[in-house]
Amino acid sequence: MDLQIRGKKALMAGGSAGMGRATAERLAEAGVELYISARREERLHNAAKEMSEKYGIEVTPIVADSSTDEGRKALFAACPEPDILAITIKPPEPNGDFLKVTPEMWRESTETALIGPIEIMRNYIPGMKDRGWGRIVNIATFSAKNPMIWRLMSGPARSALINYTASVSREIAQFGVNINNILPGMFATEGAEEIMASYAEAFGLEMDRDIITNHFIEHNKIPAGFQAVADDMAPMAALLCSPLSRFIVGQNIVIDGGQHHSLF
Ligand SMILES: NC(=O)c1ccc[n+]([C@@H]2O[C@H](COP(=O)([O-])OP(=O)(O)OC[C@H]3O[C@@H](n4cnc5c(N)ncnc54)[C@H](OP(=O)(O)O)[C@@H]3O)[C@@H](O)[C@H]2O)c1
Repeated sequence: MDLQIRGKKALMAGGSAGMGRATAERLAEAGVELYISARREERLHNAAKEMSEKYGIEVTPIVADSSTDEGRKALFAACPEPDILAITIKPPEPNGDFLKVTPEMWRESTETALIGPIEIMRNYIPGMKDRGWGRIVNIATFSAKNPMIWRLMSGPARSALINYTASVSREIAQFGVNINNILPGMFATEGAEEIMASYAEAFGLEMDRDIITNHFIEHNKIPAGFQAVADDMAPMAALLCSPLSRFIVGQNIVIDGGQHHSLF
């Protein structure tokens, strides 16, 4: 399928690893001029170089923390006019006992998972409207719709994010600018690997990869029977970045192997 985005400018905020990287790869494959950002410089530069060589396109790496004003300024300066914007972060740490969640933890969660994406969208939407076309995709989390007691630092902020995008997307669709969200379930990514030790601690498990992975699958009752890899969601993200998705507005697409029991 031709995604019809060859030559468009695409920014993947959080594009050096995991689902952000997989989405960037699918956009690169479709021939966009690509910008990717992340906080950690070495992995970011390697990702940009690898994708540029693999797909024969220009890939600009931007070292920027989306959760800070300073990071967002760097992003906006390096990539002022994207046609396509996708945004993600790394999975927040499991919170353990809910009674131990502090105001400071809520502030950090809100800055990273809610205010960061909103401020990035708020900066780019006026230009997309003026140019008469734009696509925005947030790679958030299925715990936005499916609350989990150990994902308090991830779900609530993203429930607010999808509430925000539900309203804003309906305001701007008339200008050819669509926002949609992907809500992933359990994926084996670099970010998931990084929080394994905290996951083991939260559930009192041995720090053993197989034990933790099996616990992920059993505890989370994934009907598909396996933990996904990042490219199990990236084709859908790329489709939402394309003109082909012009009638898809303000949707939250759960990609979780059937884990979330809900009709909508
Ligand atoms: N993996 C799962 O099982 C799972 C489950 C449910 C939901 N999710 C959600 O899916 C999304 C992607 O997760 P993932 O597992 O693909 O994560 P990942 O492997 O850690 O990749 C995240 C990417 O975003 C970058 N990033 C993180 N925080 C950033 C920030 N503040 N500013 C700029 N870039 C940032 C990371 O690079 P740097 O760290 O260098 O900045 C990396 O490139 C997250 O929203 C997560 O909550 C994941």
